[in-house]
Amino acid sequence: MGIKVGIIGCGSITKLRHAPEYTANPFVDEIVFYDRNPERSEALAEMFGGTVVQNVDELLTDSTIDVISDCSSNESHHIFSTKALLNGKHVLCEKPISLTIEHAREILDAQKQSGKKLMVDHNQRFTRAHQKAKEIIQREELGKVLTFSTTFGHSGPEQWGINKTNSTWFFQKERSGLGVAGDLGIHKVDLIHYLLDDEIEQVSAFQGALDKVNENNEPIEVCDNIVSSLKTKKGRLGTAAFSWTYYGEEDNSTIIYCEKGILKIYHSDEHQLEVITKDGEKVQYKLENIQTNNNQTNSGVIDAFIESIRLDQQPLVTGEDALLALKVILGIIEAAETSKVITI
Ligand SMILES: NC(=O)c1ccc[n+]([C@@H]2O[C@H](COP(=O)([O-])OP(=O)(O)OC[C@H]3O[C@@H](n4cnc5c(N)ncnc54)[C@H](O)[C@@H]3O)[C@@H](O)[C@H]2O)c1
Repeated sequence: MGIKVGIIGCGSITKLRHAPEYTANPFVDEIVFYDRNPERSEALAEMFGGTVVQNVDELLTDSTIDVISDCSSNESHHIFSTKALLNGKHVLCEKPISLTIEHAREILDAQKQSGKKLMVDHNQRFTRAHQKAKEIIQREELGKVLTFSTTFGHSGPEQWGINKTNSTWFFQKERSGLGVAGDLGIHKVDLIHYLLDDEIEQVSAFQGALDKVNENNEPIEVCDNIVSSLKTKKGRLGTAAFSWTYYGEEDNSTIIYCEKGILKIYHSDEHQLEVITKDGEKVQYKLENIQTNNNQTNSGVIDAFIESIRLDQQPLVTGEDALLALKVILGIIEAAETSKVITI
């Protein structure tokens, strides 16, 4: 018998990643879609094959469903993911895991209580250039990491979300919570933790709602830009910039500066990883373009999640990893709001 999956929330991330990747996974038999806007679940059931339910409890109490993808908006993750785990489902929760540490802990506690798998969709870890960079850093091919700089910016979620208007939930404080920091920044925080095998410990930051406006033409309630300086537990220093106002071209790049050279990741379209050594040697890797709003290829996340269930292994991104990334993002926002250096 194959695996039966329920998906909560049938917006862009479900349409572009979860539904196609479950469909392509050979161990998944069936998908059941749920959205509080039924026309969205029906459209995806038609597009990918599958059935729909009219309310979330039908999914959560269906004993034939093994797995839930929680693709609802940020403020609901702790409600759906907690319930799904306590109902005996394995859960792949979208990022950010939640908007508060307390809510993240509810999900983590439910995971412990149920013994089911919980993975959070920090998909940056899975891209080929990030995997290769991790290998080089781990082997200390360029010596130890000293400093880093990371950026994630595009033209904004009102171009991405299913509801392509300025009334998007991404711009609302009570639903998006953390603005661009929770939307894009949290990806890079998790990536830095992963690549460097380290944790960000101290942060300072500036933020602003510089350009985005809501449906009433007022500045949005959350930050559309945030920049930060970071210090890790192992003493590495870094800078980070996260933006919803990079009009014209997305920037998804990271540079890692080591004792014997530099790793440039997603700087050039042609060579997704470039290694430049102290003595001037340059090695360029042609791997694969990163998934962007305009380039949706298999992220590898769903396959890894299904594999962790089948082989009964710890998922590659745990609830604890996601909580750690959330704590750093909350720290960055607090630093920006208080103009203080925050220790995570
Ligand atoms: N991992 C990634 O790279 C990535 C990329 C984009 C979005 N996301 C995350 O995925 C989640 C969904 O984002 P999206 O871009 O698909 O948003 P979206 O606005 O396109 O879609 C969200 C869908 O969820 C439904 N929904 C929201 N709350 C619900 C509720 N309480 N009950 C029932 N349905 C509900 C909405 O009706 C909508 O159809 C967010 O948490 C977002 O941060 C992750």
